[in-house]
Amino acid sequence: MLGQKLIYALLKQDNVRIIATSIGGNRTREKEGYIYESLDITDRVGVEQLFAKYQPDAVINTAAFTNVDGCEKDHEVCDRLNIDAVSYLIQECEKHNTHLVHISTDFVFDGEAGPYKETDVPNPLSYYAESKYKAELLLEKSNIRWAIIRTIIIFGVVDDLNRSNVVLWTKNALEKGQTINVINDQYRAPTLAEDLADACVAAVMKNAEGIYHVAGKEIYCILDIACRVAEYFGLDASHINPITSESLKQPAKRPPYTGFILDKAIRDLDFHPHTFEESLGIIAAQLKRNAEWIAKGNA
Ligand SMILES: NC(=O)c1ccc[n+]([C@@H]2O[C@H](COP(=O)([O-])OP(=O)(O)OC[C@H]3O[C@@H](n4cnc5c(N)ncnc54)[C@H](OP(=O)(O)O)[C@@H]3O)[C@@H](O)[C@H]2O)c1
Repeated sequence: MLGQKLIYALLKQDNVRIIATSIGGNRTREKEGYIYESLDITDRVGVEQLFAKYQPDAVINTAAFTNVDGCEKDHEVCDRLNIDAVSYLIQECEKHNTHLVHISTDFVFDGEAGPYKETDVPNPLSYYAESKYKAELLLEKSNIRWAIIRTIIIFGVVDDLNRSNVVLWTKNALEKGQTINVINDQYRAPTLAEDLADACVAAVMKNAEGIYHVAGKEIYCILDIACRVAEYFGLDASHINPITSESLKQPAKRPPYTGFILDKAIRDLDFHPHTFEESLGIIAAQLKRNAEWIAKGNA
C-alpha cells in the first residue's frame, strides 16, 4: 500500500529517477515514468545486484511482514523480512553511500503512556513489534545516513484492491449488511497512506536523519474509527458490535493506547496530515475513480 503511494508521490517530483521494487510483478496501475524491478529483499545477492545496477542516492524500505499474529506464529519468516533483510539494505547503503529511510511502527511502544514522542523508550509487546524494534537498533548502530519513520494504522485505497484496512473493511462489511466485531479498548491515530508517502518523500528530499513520528493527528478508539466510517458513508452503525481485546484471544498482544506527538515531523518534514474526515473524502473519490475505471472494462 505505502509502496504504491510512494510511486505516485515521487512521480510528482522533478529530477527523480524512481526504481520501484517488490516481490513479484508490478501491481501499480500507472506503469509509466519509473522503472520496476522484481526483488525479494530477503535475497542478499539480489539486493546487492540491484544496488550495483542503480547506485541509488536514497532507498525507502516499505517492505515488511506486517501480519502481527503471523509473526507471533512464524518467528523465522518474520526475522528474515523484518530484521535480516534490513541488515542487507544497511550493508549496501554503506557501500554506496545511500540514505536509508525505513518504516517502523507505533507497536514498538507498550501503549501505556501514549501519545509518544521520538525520545520515548520502546517496550515491544509482540514478536512483530520486537522484530521492528530490532531493525531500528540495526539502523541506529550503523554508519549509514538513516531515518526511521514510525507510523500507525495506515489506511487508503490500493490500485488492485487486494489489501484491506480498517476503513475499507468497515465500509465493505456494512455495505453488505454484515455485522462486524470492533475493538472498543485500543486507541490509535489512523494515518492516510498518501500523507505517510509525502512524509517519506520529504525525508529523502531534506536528507532527514533520526527517528520521526508520522501519523494522523486525531487519536480514536478503533470502535470510534468504524463508527465514523459508517457515519461518513451513510451506513448502518447498528451492525457494529463492540468487543474487548481480551475477548478476541489474538496470539499477539497489542498496545492499548498509542498515537504520536508530531511536532518534529511538522517542523522538519513539513508534515501536515489531513483530518480523518478529509481523508475519508479522499478515499471516497478514489473508490469512485476505481469503479469508473473498472466499468470501462479495465479490470
Ligand atoms: N499497515 C499498517 O497499519 C502499519 C502500521 C504501522 C507500521 N506499518 C509499517 O509500514 C510499512 C508498510 O506497511 P504496509 O501496510 O504498506 O504493508 P504491506 O501493504 O503489507 O506492504 C508490504 C509489502 O512488502 C512486500 N513484501 C513482502 N515480502 C517481501 C520481500 N521478501 N521482498 C520484497 N517485498 C516484500 C509485500 O508484497 P506482497 O503484497 O506481494 O506480499 C507488500 O507489498 C511496514 O514497514 C509496516 O511495518 C504499517
